[in-house]
Amino acid sequence: MASREWLRSAHEDGYDSGEITSKEPDARRALEEAKIGGSYYDVFQKAIQPFVAPNSRVLELGPGRGSWTRAILSLVPNGEVHTIDLHDVTRFMDPSNWPGRLHCHQVTENDYRFLPDAYFDFFFSFGVLCHLMREERREVLQQALPKLRPGGYSAHEYGDWIKLDAFGWVAGGMPQDLKFLPDDESWWPRNDSRDMALTARAAGWRVVTPDLDILRRDGIIILRRANEGFWSVRGQRTRSALRRLWRAAWS
Ligand SMILES: C[S@@+](CC[C@H](N)C(=O)[O-])C[C@H]1O[C@@H](n2cnc3c(N)ncnc32)[C@H](O)[C@@H]1O
Repeated sequence: MASREWLRSAHEDGYDSGEITSKEPDARRALEEAKIGGSYYDVFQKAIQPFVAPNSRVLELGPGRGSWTRAILSLVPNGEVHTIDLHDVTRFMDPSNWPGRLHCHQVTENDYRFLPDAYFDFFFSFGVLCHLMREERREVLQQALPKLRPGGYSAHEYGDWIKLDAFGWVAGGMPQDLKFLPDDESWWPRNDSRDMALTARAAGWRVVTPDLDILRRDGIIILRRANEGFWSVRGQRTRSALRRLWRAAWS
């Protein structure tokens, strides 16, 4: 089942995606890339690199053994990476190897009140939202939103059943019986790019693109926390916000 219990026990020993920053995959990564139908190096180049600068502060959900964390750390020599996981991931990556730059937080709930507001430039996850049901996907995105600075970006891999059907369940490494399980008993709950975009909007994000189309089996969504300022009402930039201010000034 896709419960917290499943996620906790299934990834107890830490999930490893191999080395991300090299163009050629190692054996571990090659195995995963064959199933997902795309290159992790492409994901690194297109879903991470454009959104971070050397001094960026990055929030990563579900780092596991830290394949993506190490890749992100290589991009932010003057920045910080904060990870959130159900497990103690310092067993797999010791923060003292990145003094002041890597901070690993272990959580039991999707509650990020302990993190500073408007602090992060970028929020990333890989291999996490694909295991969460719609309501939990929304909860995670909603909790993370205020932690990003206005204008900050976010990128997440997610399961897409429409792409999976086209790619093939066997090719995608998915047991066929998952097709018939209700979401609350499955580790690959139903989702697609439209549903993912609706969920992200419901959580308060602006959808930059529902899918970068880098992976043949899964989606990668790019989100943005709206800029707040003169033009914004509750983070949404609207013409009606200006009209309302105009009317208020002249009434
Ligand atoms: C499949 S592993 C992916 C690891 C890594 N991102 C990668 O791609 O190599 C999923 C990770 O997300 C963590 N996780 C799952 N749900 C979570 C949640 N709601 N909050 C925090 N961590 C979660 C798990 O404990 C696990 O370490």
